[in-house]
Amino acid sequence: MLSVEEYHQHFVTSLKDYAVTKEPKNLYQPIHYILNLGGKRLRPVLTLMAADIFNSHYKEALNAALSIEVFHNFSLVHDDIMDEAPLRRGQLTVHEKWDINTGILSGDAMLIMAYKLFENYPSQTFRALIQLFSKTALEVCEGQQYDIDFETRDNVTIPEYLKMIEYKTAVLVGTSLKMGAIVANASIEDQNGIYEFGKNLGIAFQLQDDYLDAFGDPKTFGKQIGGDIIENKKTYLYLKALEFSNDTDQLALRELFASNPEDLSTKVKTAKQHFESSGATEATLKAIEHYTNKSFMILETLQISEEKKQLLKTFGTQLMYRAV
Ligand code: IPE
Ligand code: IPE
Ligand code: MG
Ligand code: MG
Ligand code: MG
Repeated sequence: MLSVEEYHQHFVTSLKDYAVTKEPKNLYQPIHYILNLGGKRLRPVLTLMAADIFNSHYKEALNAALSIEVFHNFSLVHDDIMDEAPLRRGQLTVHEKWDINTGILSGDAMLIMAYKLFENYPSQTFRALIQLFSKTALEVCEGQQYDIDFETRDNVTIPEYLKMIEYKTAVLVGTSLKMGAIVANASIEDQNGIYEFGKNLGIAFQLQDDYLDAFGDPKTFGKQIGGDIIENKKTYLYLKALEFSNDTDQLALRELFASNPEDLSTKVKTAKQHFESSGATEATLKAIEHYTNKSFMILETLQISEEKKQLLKTFGTQLMYRAV
C-alpha cells in the first residue's frame, strides 16, 4: 500500500495526461478548466486505494478513478448552475466564467467522457463497472432533485434529509471504493462491505460540507460562505435548529428560509446565530462523528489487514477535521 499523498500524486499525474483540449474550444476549455481547478480528489484516491486493498495494483484502477473524478466534476458544473453558485475551489464557477448553456453542454460531455473511460476494461469488469455507475449516477440525480425540491418545502424531516444526502453524495463515495474492489476482482461480500463503509463516510462528509458552508473560513473553503442559507437549503443545521427552538424562534427561522431578501449578509448572519444558539451546530458536529464512527465499525467487519483498515481510518479521520 502507498500513502494517501502518494495515491493523490499518482492520480493527479494521470489526470494531466488525460488531455481534453480539442475543438470546439467552447466545449472543451471549460472541461479542462474545472478538472484542473484542483479539489481534494478524494473519490479517485479511494478507488486507487481499494484496488490495492483487494490485492490488485492501483494502476489497474486509474481509468475507473478518472471516470469517478470526471463524473464528480460534471455533477459540480451542473450543481453550481442549480445552486446559482459563484465560486468553486476559490475560482469562478463554469457558468459564471462562460455561461449557463456552456455549463450544460460541457457537463453533458463530461458525463459521456466518464462512461468512455470504462471502455478498456475486460468485458466482465466493464459490465460490473457500468452497472454500478449507472445505478449510482441515477441516484445522484434523484438526490439532487430532492435537494432542490426541499428548498421550497417547509416540512422536510431529518430522515428525508439523510436520504437526500445519501443519494446526492454518499453513494458516489461508496461507489468510488466499490469500483476499486471490482477492478481487483474482490468477493461480492468485500465489494458490498467497502461500499457500506464509503456510504457512511459519505454521509459524514456531506454533513461536514453543510457545516463548512455556514461556518467555514472564506479564505480556504473556496465556495461562497452561506450559499446554502441564501438558497434556503434544508440542511441538518437548519432542521436541528428548528427542532431545538421555541415557537417564536421556529417561526422566525421558517420565515427566514422562505425569503429572498436584498440584504443577503444579514440573512446569513441571522441564520448562523440561530444555528449556534439553538445547539444545532453542536448536534451537526456530533452527527459527523457518529457517521464517521459508524463507517469505522463497518470497516471492522471486512476481511482485510489491520494496516489497511488503519489507512482508511486515517483518511476518514482527516476528512472529519478538514477545513476545505
Ligand atoms: C463537493 O465535493 C460536493 C459535495 C458532494 C459536497 P468535494 O468537497 O469533494 O469537492 P472537491 O472535488 O474537493 O472540490
Ligand atoms: C452537491 O451538494 C452534491 C453534488 C454535486 C451531486 P452541494 O450543493 O452541497 O455541493 P457544493 O457545496 O456545491 O460543493
Ligand atoms: Mg452546490
Ligand atoms: Mg447542490
Ligand atoms: Mg455544499
